[in-house]
Amino acid sequence: MPMDALIALRAAEVGPSDWEALRRAQQMPVMNNGVDVPLRLALVPEGRAGWMGRPGLSGSRGGRDWSPRFEVVELEVDGQPVTVGVHTSGAGSVRVACRDEGAELELELLVELTPQGLLRTRAGVRNLGAEAYQVDELLVALPVPGQARELLDFTGRWTKERQPQRLPLVMGEHRRENRRGRTGADAAHQLCLGTRGFGHAGGAVWAVHTAWSGNHVHYAERVNTGQQVIGGGELLLPGEVILGQGEQYLGPWVYASHGEGLDNVAARFHDWMRARPQHPASARPVTLNVWEAVYFDHRLDKLLELVDRAAEVGVERFVLDDGWFGGRRDDTAGLGDWWVSPQMWPDGLDPLISAVKAKGMQFGLWVEPEMVNMDSDLARAHPEWVMQTGGRLPVESRHQQVLNLAIPQAYAQVRDQLSEILRRYEIDYLKWDHNRDLVDAGSAGSGRPAVHAQTLAAYRLMDELRAVRPGLEIESCASGGARVDLEVLQRTDRVWASDCIDALERQQIDWWTKQLIPPELVGSHIASVPFHTTGRILGLPMRAATAVFGHLGIEWDITQAGPEELAVLKGWIDWHKQHRALLHRGRMVRLDWPDDELRVHGMVDDSGGIFSVAMVAMPGPMGLGLLPLPGLEPEARYRVQVVFGDQIVQLPQAWQAAPIELSGAQLAAGVLRAPVMFTDQVLVVEARRVRAGH
Ligand code: DGJ
Repeated sequence: MPMDALIALRAAEVGPSDWEALRRAQQMPVMNNGVDVPLRLALVPEGRAGWMGRPGLSGSRGGRDWSPRFEVVELEVDGQPVTVGVHTSGAGSVRVACRDEGAELELELLVELTPQGLLRTRAGVRNLGAEAYQVDELLVALPVPGQARELLDFTGRWTKERQPQRLPLVMGEHRRENRRGRTGADAAHQLCLGTRGFGHAGGAVWAVHTAWSGNHVHYAERVNTGQQVIGGGELLLPGEVILGQGEQYLGPWVYASHGEGLDNVAARFHDWMRARPQHPASARPVTLNVWEAVYFDHRLDKLLELVDRAAEVGVERFVLDDGWFGGRRDDTAGLGDWWVSPQMWPDGLDPLISAVKAKGMQFGLWVEPEMVNMDSDLARAHPEWVMQTGGRLPVESRHQQVLNLAIPQAYAQVRDQLSEILRRYEIDYLKWDHNRDLVDAGSAGSGRPAVHAQTLAAYRLMDELRAVRPGLEIESCASGGARVDLEVLQRTDRVWASDCIDALERQQIDWWTKQLIPPELVGSHIASVPFHTTGRILGLPMRAATAVFGHLGIEWDITQAGPEELAVLKGWIDWHKQHRALLHRGRMVRLDWPDDELRVHGMVDDSGGIFSVAMVAMPGPMGLGLLPLPGLEPEARYRVQVVFGDQIVQLPQAWQAAPIELSGAQLAAGVLRAPVMFTDQVLVVEARRVRAGH
C-alpha cells in the first residue's frame, strides 16, 4: 500500500497539480544490493516489498501466508467510494481495503486527519480463507524525516508516573512494550521523535500515541536506507487472536501529531479532545475525595462533618472512595460484591447522599469492576470467573485477582449489580479504579490469553453503565495514574494522574500528563501534609498553586484543618472558580529553562495568561536571571501582577510589588527580572490583556 496519497492528504497547501510531482519526489532510489524496484514504505510496512524493518503484520496459518502482498481493492474518501485521481487536502478520512487473494487475507486501513491537525490511523486484518489465521502483531507506522533523531518518551512506576526519558534514535528499533493489561504507570504515553534538542517551544517534533488500555506497543525504527518510522499497535499474547473465516481483528487507533515544539504537539491533542461531542462542557466541579481523609474507616458522622466542611470551602463534588460495599473493610476482601455493605451503611448510602445533595454538591462513588478478591461471595461462587492459565491462579497483587469480563455471565453480574446501584442512588460520577497489573491473564479451562477480550469488555462495561445514567461522568484511575490513554478517555472524563499528591512530584507528573491530555481532564488535588506517599511537608501555596492548574480537588481530612487554613483554602478555590474558563480552555505553554529547579508553565487565551513560577529544588545562581512569560499576543499589552506569592519569597522586585504593563513580545523576550526564590516556593502571575478604554 503506497504512502504517497496519504502524505499528500496531510498537507493543506498541496494542490491537485502537485500530486504527480509529489509522487515522483517521494520515490526511493533502487540501491545497490537492495531490491530491484523502488521500495515503497507502507502504513502497515510489508516485508515482501523489501522493507527490512519490522513488518506491520505478523501472522500465519501454521507457517503459511506469513508474507502477504496486499493490493488496493477499495478506496473511500470521506465515506465516498473513489477510483482514481483523488485530489483533496485538509481534514478528512480515508478508508483503504487491500487484498491478497492468494493468502486469502484482507487488510483495512483507516486514516483520519482531524480539523485540529491530528492524524489517527488504525488497521484491521480479515481472514477470507477457511483455515484459521493467527494474528501475532498488527502495527501501523508513520514515516518521519531523517533529521529527527532524538527520542522522548515516558516511563514511571506507582506514585511516579510519566517520567521523561530522552535518547538518540540509533540504527534499529526503540520498542516500548507494555504487558500489564492496563495502560501502565510506565507507559510510553507519547513517543516523540524530533530534531536535536527539541523543546516545548521549538524544534520539529513528530509524536505518536497508541490509544489502548491493554497490552500495547509504541516504537520508533531506523533502517540502513535512512528511512525511519514511529508507530504502534496492540501487543498480542501467544495465540490470543486466531481468526476464523470472515472474522476481522481491528487494531487500536494510533494518534500522530506534528509541530514546532512539544507545546504545539500537545495543543493538537488538546484541541481535538475539546472538539469531541462528549468532552465535558460544564465547569469542572471542584472535588473532594475522601480516600486519604478516612481510608476504609467509613463512619457516617465523620463523613457528614467532611460534607459540611467541603461545602463551606466551595467543593462541588463529593466522592466516597473504596470501602462502601460487600465485605470490603480493608483491601483483602470484598472486591466483586457490588452491594452496599449493611454493616457499614445500615441505612444505605441515602443519609450521606442526601447531605451531599442538600449542600448542592454532586455525589461520586468509587468502583473497581474488573477486580475480585478471593475472599468475596463472587469468587466463592464462581472461582472459574477469575482470570488464570496453566490450571493455577496468578500471583496476587494487592490481595486481588482479575475478574474475567470476557465470560458473559461474569460480565452480566457485575454490570447488573452496578446498574442497580446507579438506578437506586443519585450518583453523578464514578471513580473507576484498576489496582493491579494483569499476570497470567487467561480464561479458566482453556487457559488461553484473554487480555484483548478483557480490554474490550471493560470499554463495553463503561459504555453500558454510562447509558444507565445519562450524564454520568467517570474518572479513569488505576493505582493512581496507570490508565491514561485516549481510548479510555473516549468514555471517561477525568484521569487520576497519580496517587502521589506531593505537589513537588505533581509539578512534573502533571506537566507531562498534559503532553497528551488537556488540563481540565487531569485530576489534581490539594493534599494534607505530610504527604501520605512521600512524607514531605510543603506549604499550602505550593500545594494549591500546583493543583489549580488541573481539575481541582482536595484529598485531605479538612475536619482537622483550622479556620485560618480553611479560609486560605477557600481563597484558592474561589480564585480557581473565577479563572477556570482560562485554566481549562486556554492553550498550555511551558517554558524551556536550562535549570531543572525552575518550572514555569501557564495557560493563555484571548483574555491573557496565568502562569505558575515554581522553584522545585534549591536554585543555583538566585534571582539574577530574566523570566520569560511565553505564549501571549506579541502586539497586545498586558497588566502583569502576582496574584499569589508564597509568603516567604524574599525581597519582591518592583514588578511584584505593584502591577506593571508590558507587551506580549516584551514578556516573551524575558524583560521581567526573575524573583529571588528558594526551594518549594511558587508565584502565580496573571497577565491580563489591557483593552482600549479599560
Ligand atoms: C488507588 C487509587 O488511586 C486511590 O486513590 C484509592 O482510590 C485506592 N485505590 C482505593 O483502593
